[in-house]
Amino acid sequence: MTYGHFDDRRREYVITRPDTPLPWINYLGCEAYFGIISNTAGGYSFYRDARLRRLTRYRYNNVPPDVGGRYLYVRDDETGDFWSPTWQPTRHDPEDYTCRHGMGYTVIGSARKGVRADICYFVPLGADLEIWQLTVSNKGRRPRRLSLFSSIEFCLWDAQDDATNFQRNFSTGQVEVERGVIYHKTEYRERRNHVAFFACSEKPAGTDTQREAFLGPYRGWDKPLAVERGRSFNSVAHGWAPIGSHHVRLALAPGETRTVTYILGYSENPRDAKFDPPGSQTIDKRGIRRVLDRYRDAAAVAKAFEELRSSWEGLLDVYRVRTPVRHVDRMVNIWNPYQCMATFNMSRSASMFESGIGRGLGFRDSTQDLLGFVHMVPARARERILDLAATQLATGGAYHQYQPLTKRGNNDIGSNFNDDPLWLIVGVAAYIRETGDWSLLDEAVPYDNAPGSETPLYEHCTRSIRYTLDRLGPHGLPLIGRADWNDCLNLNCFSETPGESFQTTTNREGRVAESVFIAALFVLAARELSAIASRRGREAESGEYLQHADRMEQVVREHGWDGEWFLRAYDASGGRVGSASCGEGKIFIESQGFCVLAGIGTQDGRARKALDAVRKHLATPHGIMLQQPAFSRYYVELGEISSYPPGYKENAGIFCHNNPWVMIAETVLGNGDAALDYYLRINPSARERLARLHRCEPYVYAQMIAGKDAPTHGEAKNSWLTGTAAWNYYAITQWILGIRPTFEGLQVAPVVPARWKEFSVRRVFRGVTYDIDVVRVGKGNSVRLTVDGRPVDGTVLGVPPAGATALRVRAEIS
Ligand code: BGC
Ligand code: NOJ
Repeated sequence: MTYGHFDDRRREYVITRPDTPLPWINYLGCEAYFGIISNTAGGYSFYRDARLRRLTRYRYNNVPPDVGGRYLYVRDDETGDFWSPTWQPTRHDPEDYTCRHGMGYTVIGSARKGVRADICYFVPLGADLEIWQLTVSNKGRRPRRLSLFSSIEFCLWDAQDDATNFQRNFSTGQVEVERGVIYHKTEYRERRNHVAFFACSEKPAGTDTQREAFLGPYRGWDKPLAVERGRSFNSVAHGWAPIGSHHVRLALAPGETRTVTYILGYSENPRDAKFDPPGSQTIDKRGIRRVLDRYRDAAAVAKAFEELRSSWEGLLDVYRVRTPVRHVDRMVNIWNPYQCMATFNMSRSASMFESGIGRGLGFRDSTQDLLGFVHMVPARARERILDLAATQLATGGAYHQYQPLTKRGNNDIGSNFNDDPLWLIVGVAAYIRETGDWSLLDEAVPYDNAPGSETPLYEHCTRSIRYTLDRLGPHGLPLIGRADWNDCLNLNCFSETPGESFQTTTNREGRVAESVFIAALFVLAARELSAIASRRGREAESGEYLQHADRMEQVVREHGWDGEWFLRAYDASGGRVGSASCGEGKIFIESQGFCVLAGIGTQDGRARKALDAVRKHLATPHGIMLQQPAFSRYYVELGEISSYPPGYKENAGIFCHNNPWVMIAETVLGNGDAALDYYLRINPSARERLARLHRCEPYVYAQMIAGKDAPTHGEAKNSWLTGTAAWNYYAITQWILGIRPTFEGLQVAPVVPARWKEFSVRRVFRGVTYDIDVVRVGKGNSVRLTVDGRPVDGTVLGVPPAGATALRVRAEIS
């Protein structure tokens, strides 16, 4: 059973019943003003930082679920009947309910007793506001008199404080209402210079700004008193809970359609020019009025919507594919890059599973997100790399997270996640491969944001390598520190205290526990840096990095191989983790996927052996589990991984982020059938038919699908904000379909299933459009290329002739 369907032509997912298993969300905004919106209009908005500049209130983990949103009520003024076209919050039986989640917009609507209402929600490019454009039609034969009530609830800016500090906040709320526009100005009297505004294109008959007045005593959003009685109270919030609501009356002739535009936005004034007149306590609204004048005009709104659509068309045009499998085409052409934009923008901050309070931008998360984003907006990727590198420490270490508003490293979580610094090199290499912009390496970037400490970015990369080399353990493998990619493998934590953070508590000195995963990442990163150094004419350094990589590979061969697969780690007592000799947790996915991806074991048969072991012990129809057997009890020496019941998250869940490592590894060994098979097991579109089991959105990846040890095997959790997006995109586009940017040019090296006869890709790369037709003429993966009819040596298309803007490439694989 499904809850909707894909509309690929419009690049939308169409939800046809509102009671989806979980709220199925979309993101609004992609620059500074953002929101999440569910299929029933739940969600919230914020400016840049989901914690510190939250405009509207949302109640996570509430019942009924998903309350707090962008709600409109339609009221029949003859009968008093009222309902929400978005189903929530009134939850009347809707007629013809649809929610169309598209690229940066969502349209939700339904009908009731002859009145059809649809609301299109989006954030115009370049604007710090969101538009709700309501279209309401009288489908019947008699005239209708309707009332519309809008509603939002303001969050008092700092979402953490808003949810906890009631003794203060119940006295600080303030608003202004002027000519029907509602201004939320809590704390503006003191240190804030920003306000929120909520306006409507029609002249309202009334407004409300105090929640209790609008709702009435002991009522919820499903039955506001103002809506029930058909008239606002014109309440003005002072303390308690400021909200925004407009009452608009409409008379609709039979067949008539009207549009009404609502505008919710954020605005800042200069600190010394906050008030008008100066010296008063009244907000200077001149800037806001100008913005409102613009967007109250329906033609301007239509134009802004068109701009958003065509901007997405441009972003998605960079890589377009036609293959024999529609789940590949749909995810590659539409939803996977779209999700990559969300992960780039949000990191892991705001979703249905991330409250927007806890987490800044992760160092390793954001660097990996670049793999799926850099081709869309390279300039923003560049800026992100420089921001991240500026939080790097002089030792080469990295803060685990930084705050987007301040761009400073976050000291609450600190550092010593020993994989973090190496990901910087992965991100830098991806950027240069895509753009050919070597000047990035020369940018002067500070350490820990300290003025005067700047070195060229290249040196940051060298310090990342040094950081690992300075922290090797008894076997010569990298020390794990607090954790490596697996945040839950806390080998120095030894926590016995309830509630203590596994990630930030360290009870052992940490000179023993080592990570095979970091060793593999090091091999990859050191080879990348060697390639970069050599292309910069630093041959001696290049040779050194190569030697370091080779030496580490040797160490992995000696101490990181368990006999049938790669070991995962050594614990704080030097015991093996992820070994056949362990009682539980005998084999882990990370070291199998990443060692092979880094080229370890490809010469001596171990790589194949490791991947066969993955297939045998870890693969399920729903994806590849993180480890097996699941930990049935808590192991203090392993940490959080054993805190989860078997089958969930890092304890033997299907952690979708690392499945692509195995897909790529299979392509490295030339096995396109296995790679695509794994790809399709977790591909959201391919899982749409399992919607009742899968439960999360069928158009984006979730971080986790419950593993075979869980009673809910196959159920997804934590959709949207996960490295899964970038890694799957990278695996399918660059390794399976094999269209891969290199330092020298675009490579064409597909490793696709034997049964695929042909596929084609249009790739815009460094300003040139490559139309690539791949045709299978034999069973293997050898490639013969011709460009505009002329044969080319090898698989890399070098710099095209001057002036060339479009090339036709034919690739024969045999
Ligand atoms: C989760 C990890 C996550 C970590 C972040 C843990 O509880 O299981 O997936 O990376 O928290 O702090
Ligand atoms: C989610 C975190 O965001 C990511 O950084 C980490 O690698 C995985 N969990 C695995 O623990």
